[in-house]
Formats: sequence, structure tokens, C-alpha cells
Amino acid sequence: MFYIYSMILVTGSTGLVGTHLLLELAKKHHKIRAIHRASSNLQAVLDTFALYVDDPLPYYDKIEWIEADITDFETLLQALDGVDQVYHTAAFVSFDPRDRHALIRSNVGGTANLVNACLEKKVKKLCYVSSTAALGNAPPGMQITEDMMWPHSKNRSAYSVSKYQSEMEIWRGIAEGLQAVIVNPSIIIGPGDWKRSSSYLFSAVWKGMKFYTEGVTGYVDIRDVVHAMIYLMDGHFSSERYTLSAENLSYRQVLEMIASALDRPPPRIRATPFLIALAWRMSWLISKFNGKPRSITRDTVKSSKRKVLFSNEKIRQAVGIDFIPVKQSVQDTANHFLNHVRTGKV
Ligand SMILES: NC(=O)c1ccc[n+]([C@@H]2O[C@H](COP(=O)([O-])OP(=O)(O)OC[C@H]3O[C@@H](n4cnc5c(N)ncnc54)[C@H](OP(=O)(O)O)[C@@H]3O)[C@@H](O)[C@H]2O)c1
Repeated sequence: MFYIYSMILVTGSTGLVGTHLLLELAKKHHKIRAIHRASSNLQAVLDTFALYVDDPLPYYDKIEWIEADITDFETLLQALDGVDQVYHTAAFVSFDPRDRHALIRSNVGGTANLVNACLEKKVKKLCYVSSTAALGNAPPGMQITEDMMWPHSKNRSAYSVSKYQSEMEIWRGIAEGLQAVIVNPSIIIGPGDWKRSSSYLFSAVWKGMKFYTEGVTGYVDIRDVVHAMIYLMDGHFSSERYTLSAENLSYRQVLEMIASALDRPPPRIRATPFLIALAWRMSWLISKFNGKPRSITRDTVKSSKRKVLFSNEKIRQAVGIDFIPVKQSVQDTANHFLNHVRTGKV
């Protein structure tokens, strides 16, 4: 039994998740509305579509674009007119501690606004993209599941806290009568804006990244993320969260895979605690002088050293998904990256 929806709203539609989701929704001939900001790069949406279909325009033309910021409740209310299904993928992604207030305002405040607007407009269902950063901890060597409790700890990055608190807004909405499903992806591999979010890994290796850490985490293909979201949204799944993660691998393994797929030398220097501490302090100093965001922060360093394993048992049981192997995902994304290098888009 599946729902039939009339109008779907997507937030974060110019991001890695949003662009891929829009294409999949447009293929299914849904009526789609997408919000973007005045500064958003809509060409990025067409560029991503063009990676998968010969003629992206017929898909792009199905989308009704509305300018809105998720921190602005009134424009969200207008964007939700006639909408019965919402995919919430918008978020500010930053590991710079100076962005703490902006992260909370954008991610937590924006999600609270959207939940309130959905309740007011009686939206039928919402799918929220949370993160494995919002999951709890497991004892060493054990896999983290959806049931593990969030640890209030100074060791969590501001981004992590913002994703956890945003998820709490969704659970509050559920308690107030909203039907919603939550996905918690690990690091998403896929072609997007090569300067931001997880797609940046490919640019970093292309530019000759030299260091690796022994940290371990989960990885998942963008195509699996959007397929799972649509499946969970269209089926009778609600008031649950699902970890989306194909495999747990070390940064070293993944960086080597990317380097090999891009035909670049792999990072060869193991980042020792001393080198790591030096790197983030240097990055702090440089940003003091040039005012630009830090390329390495204490939070990125902490997360790159952590060894965390994620269980994907719950989503596999629920939707019977066969995850794309990370090696395949890296190879496909590297091909898109090289295509963009050839056409001057990197
Ligand atoms: N990429 C990953 O590895 C990963 C892993 C786990 C979870 N996630 C989560 O997945 C979601 C999507 O991530 P992504 O990788 O697609 O990020 P992304 O490529 O950086 O895209 C973020 C999107 O959010 C929009 N946005 C940010 N702040 C906004 C605001 N105040 N109002 C309206 N739109 C706003 C951006 O719009 P502009 O174009 O205008 O900036 C952009 O469309 C996020 O919630 C993220 O936390 C990502």
C-alpha cells in the first residue's frame, strides 16, 4: 500500500542530497516545488541532472522554484501552500567552531520553523535528513544502532549538536501529530559542488592531499540515500529513524580508493597526534590573518581520528536494500569528477 501525493516540497534542493532527490522525484512525474535562497546556484542542479540524463531540461522544468530561507517562518508557510509531502535536506554544514551560533540558528531554528509550518499546514508526511553525527555512542568495537542514546559531551562538534537538536525538533513534531521519518546517513559519496560538503573529498585528493588518519567511519552512496528516502516516504513508515550506511572503512582506505580512481598519488603520511595538533593550530592562525573559514578545525581532527562503526541492519530489514559497494561509489563519483575537470567545471 503506497500513498499518492499531489505536491512535494524539497528543502536544500541545490545541495548534494537535494539535487539527486529532485531528479529522482522528477523522473516519477511528481509535482515538485523546491526552495532556494537568493544566493543559491541553480545551475548546479542542471549540472547534476546532466550527469545522469542526456537532456536535463524536461526534468528541471517540472520544478517550481520558490525563494525561501528556512529561518524565515512566513515564507516557509507560503512555500507549503498545497503541499502534502516535505523532504527536508537543507542544513548548514560546517566544522568551524566559530559557526556554532549560525549552525544552531540555521539547522535547529530552521527545522523547528519547518515542523511548525508543516503542523499548521497539515502536511501529510515529512522525511528529514539527519546524520550519523546525531546518533549515540557504542562501546569500543561494537556497532552503533539507532537505539543508542545521545551522549551530552564536550567532544561532540557544533555540527553534531545542531543535527541532534534538529532531530529533536522532528521528534517533537511527531509528538504533536506530524507523520515523519528520519534518515541518518554516514558520509555520503556522490557528485555535487566539489568545494563543499562530502564531495570536497574528491577535490582534496585531486589537489594532492598528503595526510591520512587511521579513523574509521561509515560511507554510503548518494543514490542509495535518495532511493531509501523515497521508499520510506512513499510506504507506511513513520516515527522511526534509519541509519543509511553501506560499509565502515578507514579514512586511509577511502582516500586510497579515491586516489586510485582519479589516478593521483594516495596520501602517504600518517597524521600523528603531533602533526594533527600542529595542522589545526596553523589553520586557526592562518584564518585569523585572512578571515577565511578554517580548513582544519579541532572538530574535523577529532572526527577524523574516531573509530566508529554503524549498523545498517534496521534499514536492510525494513526495505531490503542492497547497498552499492563503496568502491563502486567512489569509482562512479571519480568518473563524474574527471568529466567535470575535462569540461572546466572543477
Ligand atoms: N554530505 C554528507 O556526507 C552528509 C552526511 C550525513 C548527513 N548529511 C545531511 O544531509 C543534508 C544535505 O547535505 P548535503 O551534503 O546535500 O549539503 P550541501 O551540499 O552543503 O547542501 C546544503 C543545502 O542546504 C541549503 N541551505 C543551507 N542553509 C539554508 C537555509 N538557511 N535556508 C535554506 N536552505 C539552506 C543549501 O542552499 P544554498 O545552495 O543556498 O547554500 C543547500 O541547498 C544535510 O542536512 C546534512 O546535514 C550530509
